[in-house]
Amino acid sequence: MSTTMVALPDIKDDVAFITGAASGIGYALTKELATRGARVIITDIQETTCQTLASELNREAGETVAVAAKVDTTSWDEQVAAYELGKQTFGRVDYFFANAGIVEAMWIPRFEADKFDVETPIEKPNLKTTEINYIGQLNTAALALQVFQRQELNRHGFRGKLVLTSSIYGFFHSVTMPMYCSSKSGILAFTRSTSDLHKGKNITINCICPNATPTNIVPPDFFIAFREQDVLTPLDFVIEQYISVLGASQDNGKAIGVYKRNAWDHPLDTYRREENRASYGLIDDGVAKAFGYWD
Ligand SMILES: NC(=O)c1ccc[n+]([C@@H]2O[C@H](COP(=O)([O-])OP(=O)(O)OC[C@H]3O[C@@H](n4cnc5c(N)ncnc54)[C@H](O)[C@@H]3O)[C@@H](O)[C@H]2O)c1
Repeated sequence: MSTTMVALPDIKDDVAFITGAASGIGYALTKELATRGARVIITDIQETTCQTLASELNREAGETVAVAAKVDTTSWDEQVAAYELGKQTFGRVDYFFANAGIVEAMWIPRFEADKFDVETPIEKPNLKTTEINYIGQLNTAALALQVFQRQELNRHGFRGKLVLTSSIYGFFHSVTMPMYCSSKSGILAFTRSTSDLHKGKNITINCICPNATPTNIVPPDFFIAFREQDVLTPLDFVIEQYISVLGASQDNGKAIGVYKRNAWDHPLDTYRREENRASYGLIDDGVAKAFGYWD
């Protein structure tokens, strides 16, 4: 478990693409990247905030170090268009941050058996949380991995690095947030699967899994009890975890949990794993053959 960081990697002049950059973690991360000399492609559904931040960073630097684009992460086309703008401006992208996300949207009406009977119309679920927190991040991941495949190695010896934002709910289940929790654990499973597949290909894939961090994901009042009980995770320490896996860092497949000023690489659940591997190892081999991943 680490509470203080060793020296963070040098990322000067590297190029980063960030989703959900108009607020909270994405906003703070964008500013930290720029402070460390990186170039940034700032994207969010809140276009004006992205443009304002880009102008501010460019004014401070006296050159173009930032571009902004409206990107709804559920739109593949908008993500590609923002990447194209970034490539045109900066030549390549070293880091993709799949970060945009929202809190739980209630997905089906709550269970009140006394108010429902077989004649009550069945409602279509609201899958917005899954669409943004899972599909939206996978769109960014699909973009990143295809861009990396087409790029030369950078000065650190990497084609590129993908960092996804999972959550403490990637590890632990939630009684009240089934959509949030399943999306975040999906992102964790995706990180572990694809980082293994891309091992040795000069690509790294990691995810950051913060506990409750004060941002605009919920109204400010929500955090009052957390402050009173001293259980908030500081935003600056969360941002350090994102920076820690960049540059020449060899970290790959990490799921970095963050609670208060503690960060740790969360271990894989290995309960009865070896016994099951006899079978699921064959499944992986079969799929690998079908997809041409290995012989
Ligand atoms: N704050 C926490 O306690 C916490 C803890 C763990 C994980 N996270 C995750 O961190 C990420 C960032 O959240 P935050 O806490 O900074 O919240 P935030 O609300 O402050 O920022 C999220 C940003 O994402 C943007 N966004 C929402 N939907 C979008 C979409 N479809 N396309 C593009 N942008 C979109 C919003 O406009 C906003 O600017 C999320 O994935 C969230 O689940 C947050």
